[in-house]
Amino acid sequence: MNLSDNPLAARMSHCQLLELEHHSASGFGMLTVAANGNELPIEIRRVFYIYDVPAGAVRGGHAHHRMNELIVAVSGCFDVELTDGKTTTTVTLRRPTQGLFIPAGVWRSLSNFSSGCVALTLCDTDYDESDYIRDYNEFIQLKESCL
Ligand code: TYD
Repeated sequence: MNLSDNPLAARMSHCQLLELEHHSASGFGMLTVAANGNELPIEIRRVFYIYDVPAGAVRGGHAHHRMNELIVAVSGCFDVELTDGKTTTTVTLRRPTQGLFIPAGVWRSLSNFSSGCVALTLCDTDYDESDYIRDYNEFIQLKESCL
């Protein structure tokens, strides 16, 4: 299926845990790279990160009409619960070398943030509130209309 024709039709199988390019500076730490044209599934347009998340907080309960993204646990760890309305799965992000690709049309919730955690999101659109689906019932109705 070509998701660019109907991004809302995305399924769980379109989500992917990717290994990002990374380099070890022998004994001096690590460096991870995310660059356009570097085998990423998105063209990066915008970056944001969340941090100082209090214990027990849940972030990101939403899906998007068009925006695709890659989430990275730059520091610490957290869980990403994903659903396409039919299948639900939870991915724990804990490595700064891994990026979780979430296409438009997949609902995500972030929880169980470790203390001091930084969750980086790379995305392929400008910020546009009208691209958000923040009501889960509306999300399910939109997904059913794609069947
Ligand atoms: P929100 O999407 O609710 O955060 P989360 O999904 O992590 O729980 O965003 C929090 C606030 O930040 C909200 O008022 C929208 C604003 N915001 C921007 O202004 N620009 C951005 O690029 C993003 C991602 C959020």
